[in-house]
Parts: sequence; structure tokens; C-alpha cells
Amino acid sequence: MRVTVVGAGVIGMTSALAVKTNFPQFEVHVISDKFSPDTTADGSAGLWSPYLLGNTPCDKILQWGGITHRWLEKFWKAGLAPEIGLSLIPVYRVTSDPNGFPNVSIWTETVYGARKLSSSELEKLNAECTTSYKHGWMFLTYAVEPVRLLPWLTRQFLEAGGKLRNRKIHTLNELIDDDGCDLIINCTGLGARELAGDNTVKCIRGQVARVRAPWVMHAYLADDDDGNYIIPNTDRVVLGGTHQENDFDRTPRKEDCEFIYTGCHRILPSLKNAEVTKEWVGLRPGRHQVRIEAEVCKSPKGREVTVIHNYGHGGSGVTLCWGSAMNVVNIVENLMNLKSNL
Ligand SMILES: Cc1cc2nc3c(=O)[nH]c(=O)nc-3n(C[C@H](O)[C@H](O)[C@H](O)COP(=O)(O)OP(=O)(O)OC[C@H]3O[C@@H](n4cnc5c(N)ncnc54)[C@H](O)[C@@H]3O)c2cc1C
Ligand SMILES: *[C@@H]1O[C@H](CO)[C@@H](O)[C@H](O)[C@H]1NC(C)=O
Ligand SMILES: *[C@@H]1O[C@H](CO)[C@@H](O)[C@H](O)[C@H]1NC(C)=O
Repeated sequence: MRVTVVGAGVIGMTSALAVKTNFPQFEVHVISDKFSPDTTADGSAGLWSPYLLGNTPCDKILQWGGITHRWLEKFWKAGLAPEIGLSLIPVYRVTSDPNGFPNVSIWTETVYGARKLSSSELEKLNAECTTSYKHGWMFLTYAVEPVRLLPWLTRQFLEAGGKLRNRKIHTLNELIDDDGCDLIINCTGLGARELAGDNTVKCIRGQVARVRAPWVMHAYLADDDDGNYIIPNTDRVVLGGTHQENDFDRTPRKEDCEFIYTGCHRILPSLKNAEVTKEWVGLRPGRHQVRIEAEVCKSPKGREVTVIHNYGHGGSGVTLCWGSAMNVVNIVENLMNLKSNL
């Protein structure tokens, strides 16, 4: 059995590793035109936090996110944190919406010790940050720096016998007829749109900055449309951020920098003293819902191959990665059972 995973982002690499370790007898190749540190997650803080997921069913988010959270917990407990850039951090998550957070249980049920802020705590926070948030929560969760996690996933995959190939795919038929693989796993992110297929995948541009501020050890997320966020990683703090739809500009823009610094300095004035080490833009693969499902595709030459799609993770690719990969493994298991029953 030859499996080709297209895409080497956090979704492709977790899918490839999960398939290879669950089916060691398979030949698994990752084909991609970009690898870490040039994928969408590489500049992100990798905070576990469902965000920009459209109408993805809540039970799916709970399932995929929960599996990923427990996967990170296992690594944290095993002492693997420095190697994969993992940390367990306190988070404040606030909103101006008088109705509070919609579907709040998709994250409060998974993180540790989620607690609603009392009105006096919220008042104090608003006074300190000169904001006017209406609801807030506090909890502990993980941040895993993709720029460290991705090389680790890649090493694990190679050690398990997987292969990497640097190539751009122009049509699906290239894989079905020329490459001759038996199963394709489609983890192309925003690329699923360009491959003349899925116009429901939309680009959501995100600009962030990294600063040196070792005294900041908690995260702060404002869920509003014009909200800022502050997320500490192992040795940098990530300041954000934007979410501009259908904006493909990969260069950091001055007005976005201003928005980021003004907003974050207002929340934590001590950040004014922090040295900026990087400004970065990534294009999130947004979709009305995450797509994980199998589809049978036929090439012009008549060869049939199953494609398992795994894309459209919006602002939560890291949050949902391992759960999504395990879903792919389940689909492969079902396909194998079907085959052996024939
Ligand atoms: C500023 C910012 C902050 C973020 N913060 C967080 C966070 O804190 N937590 C979180 O969970 N998520 C966060 N995200 C979201 C997360 O980064 C994405 O959801 C995730 O990276 C998507 O991963 P992916 O593997 O699907 O896509 P990508 O990383 O884009 O990977 C797609 C892969 O497919 C390859 N590819 C595409 N088309 C082709 C083709 N035709 N031929 C060959 N290869 C192809 C590409 O080269 C690439 O390797 C953030 C995103 C941004 C931009
Ligand atoms: C959550 O609830 C709102 C309705 O308030 C809905 O529009 C949204 O799509 C739901 N799902 C997610 C993942 O936020
Ligand atoms: C991925 O999915 C999209 C949308 O269905 C499709 O257009 C594209 O050809 C697929 N790519 C691969 C490599 O399967």
C-alpha cells in the first residue's frame, strides 16, 4: 500500500506520522512544495484554542481538540517540552459581546480549571488595560511552538521510515496516474483552493510580532473583531493580531504593526520596553467547516483512488492537529476493513 500525503504543514505532518505509526507496513510519502519553517503555522504561537472555525460541528471540535490536548499533556508530562517548544500557561480570554462566548464548552471542557471571571475581577482587568470587556474566563492550557514541533514531527516521521519529496502538485491526476499511489491524503490547506477545486476555502490573513519579554508568562486573548492577543512561547512572546479575509498579502504592513503594538501595549504597558525580534504574516486556510472525509476520485485513464481530505482548519490547525490525524487513521482503518471483507 502506497500512501501519499500532500502538504507538510502541521496537518500534513501529523497525518503522515499518525498513518505511518499506525500502519508501519505502508509506504508513506509526504509531497509538498513548502516545508517548515515556511508553512502557515511556523510563525504562530501554537496556542491550544479553538478559533475561526466557521460552523464546524461543536462535537467534532471537542473530539479533535480534546485528543490534541491529551497528546500535548502526554508530552509535557514525559519531559519532551523543551524539544517541541511546549509550555503550560495561564490564559485570560475576554470578550465585549454582552452574550458572552458562543459554544464556550468547546474549550472550557478541555482546558484545565476554566473559571468565569467575577464582575469585580473583570472591572479590575478593564481598569488596568483601559478596556471594556463584558465577559472573561481564566484557565490553563498548552502552547506548542510550531517552529519546534514541526521539525520534531518530521524527524519522527523519517525515523519511522517515511519519505519527504519536494514538489508542487498541479493536478490530482499527476498523483493517480504518474505517481501510482493507492491512497492520497489531502492536507494542502489554502492550496486546496488553488488546485481548481474547493472555492469554499478562503484565506484569512494573520499578522503577528515576536518580542523578547521573559517577564510575561501568561496569555491574554480578546475575542473581539478588533481584539489583540499576547501569547508567551518558550523564549519569545507573540503579539497579535489580524484576521483579514481574502487578503493574500504576505508582507507585514505598517498599519497592522501599529494596531498590534498599540493594542498590546495598552493591555500590558511593560511590553513597550520589549525588543521586537520578528514581524510575520501567515495565511490561514478558512472554511465554513473543517473538512475530514474520504472521496473516491477517478483519473482520465480510469484509475480509482481514495482521497482523504484533511483541510480548512482556520485559526486552529495546531489545536486540532492530532485529533484530525487520528480521524484520518480511523478512516484508513475502515477502508482496510472494507477491503478485507470483500
Ligand atoms: C498569525 C497566525 C497565528 C495562528 N495562531 C494559531 C494558534 O495559536 N493556534 C492554532 O491552533 N492555530 C493557529 N493558527 C492557525 C494555524 O497556523 C493553521 O490552521 C495551520 O497552520 C494550518 O495548517 P495546514 O497544514 O492545514 O496548512 P499549511 O501550513 O498552509 O500547509 C499546507 C501545505 O500544503 C502544501 N501545498 C499546498 N498546495 C500544494 C500543492 N499544490 N502541491 C504541493 N504542496 C502543496 C504547502 O506547501 C504546505 O506545506 C495561526 C495562524 C496564523 C496565520
Ligand atoms: C457557535 O455558535 C454560533 C451561534 O451563536 C454559531 O454561529 C457558530 O457557528 C457556532 N460554532 C462555532 C465553531 O463557533
Ligand atoms: C484537495 O482537495 C481539493 C478540494 O476538493 C481538490 O481540488 C484538490 O485536488 C485536492 N488535492 C489533492 C492533492 O488531493
